[in-house]
Amino acid sequence: MCALKSLTVQSTRLLLRPFRDDDATALLALNSDPKVLEFTADAPFQDKADALDFIKTYRKDTPAGLGRYAVIRRQDEEFLGWCGLKYHPEADVVDLGYRFFQAHWNKGYATEAANAMITYGFDRLKYPFLVAHSHIKNFGSQKVLERCDFKQIKQITYDNQPAFLYKKDNPEYSIKEISARQTWPVRHPVLRKGRPLEEVYMQADEAPTTFHLGVYYKKELVGVASFMEDTHPDFEGKQARLRGMAVLPDYRKKGLAGLLLKKGENLLRQKDKDLLWFNARIVALSFYKKMGYQTIGSEFDIPLVGPHYVMKKNL
Ligand SMILES: CC(C)(COP(=O)(O)OP(=O)(O)OC[C@H]1O[C@@H](n2cnc3c(N)ncnc32)[C@H](O)[C@@H]1OP(=O)(O)O)[C@@H](O)C(=O)NCCC(=O)NCCS
Repeated sequence: MCALKSLTVQSTRLLLRPFRDDDATALLALNSDPKVLEFTADAPFQDKADALDFIKTYRKDTPAGLGRYAVIRRQDEEFLGWCGLKYHPEADVVDLGYRFFQAHWNKGYATEAANAMITYGFDRLKYPFLVAHSHIKNFGSQKVLERCDFKQIKQITYDNQPAFLYKKDNPEYSIKEISARQTWPVRHPVLRKGRPLEEVYMQADEAPTTFHLGVYYKKELVGVASFMEDTHPDFEGKQARLRGMAVLPDYRKKGLAGLLLKKGENLLRQKDKDLLWFNARIVALSFYKKMGYQTIGSEFDIPLVGPHYVMKKNL
C-alpha cells in the first residue's frame, strides 16, 4: 500500500497529487477567502507556519492512497485548489471533497478533478461506493456532484450545518444470491486455509431455507456470507444464523462485509425473521459491533478456528 502514497492522478487539464510543504502559501491564501469557506466549518489558517503545520500533520495522519490532493493545472503548474477522498471512521464511508480558488470557478475544473478522483477511488482503490456532502445552500457544489452522477440521498447535519448527503455506487460491484458451492473459492482460502477442501462444507448449506450472498468485483467473487435457519437455545423468535462471512484480503476494509450483512438482514426481514445470531471470531468483533451486534455470554473456543463470542441483533 505504501506505493500509493506517491500516486498522482491525471485528467486532461489537471494533475492531482498529495500536498507538499511548498503548498503552504497557496493553502493559506485559499482558506483566507471567506467566500471559499462560506459553506464549510473550517477556520482560516493564522499564517504560513500554521498551514505548513497542517500539511505535515495531514500527511502523517492520512491513510495511504487517501486524502485531499492538490489540484495543479498541467499547462502552467498553477495550484487551483484541492480535491480528494477522506475516510470517515464514525460512518465507515469515504467521501469526495473539493475546494478551489474563486478565480478558477466556473471553468469545469471541479467537475474534471472530481471525476478523476472518482475513477481513482473506484478503479484503483476499489471502493464499492463514495459519498459526498454539500451544504444545502451550496448550489455550485451540488451541480458538480450531479454532473459527476452522484445521487442525493437525504438531508443530514454535517459539521454542524444542514447538508445533503450524496452517494455514487461503483458500477463494477454487484451482490448476488449464489449457491453453496459457489462460495468455496472465497470460503476456503479465507476460512479454512490449508485444510482439505471438503471442510468448507457447512451443515444446512443446501437446506431450502438457506441463502448465500456473493459480492463480485467485475467477474471475480471477492466476498461471501451465508444465512441459515438455526435456533440458538438462549434466544427466542424467528431466528437465522450467519455463517461463512469472508472477504478476500485485497478487498477488505472497503465496506464489503458491511454491504453483504445489510443485504442479508434485509432479505431476512422480508422472510419475517426477527433475530440474526452467529459465532464471531475475536478479530471480527469490532466490525460486527459497528454493524449493531452485541456479544452474548463469554468467550469460547472453536477447535482449529480459535476464540469466539456469540453475537446477535434484533432485525
Ligand atoms: C471480517 C471480514 C469479513 C470483514 O470484511 P471487510 O470487507 O473488510 O469488512 P468491512 O470493510 O465492512 O469492515 C471491516 C473494517 O473496515 C472498516 N472499514 C469499512 N469501510 C472502510 C473504508 N471505506 N475505509 C477504511 N476502513 C473501512 C470497518 O470499520 C471495519 O473496521 P474494524 O475492523 O476496525 O472494525 C474480513 O476481514 C474477513 O474475511 N476476515 C477473515 C474471516 C473472518 O474473520 N470472518 C468472520 C468470521 S466471524
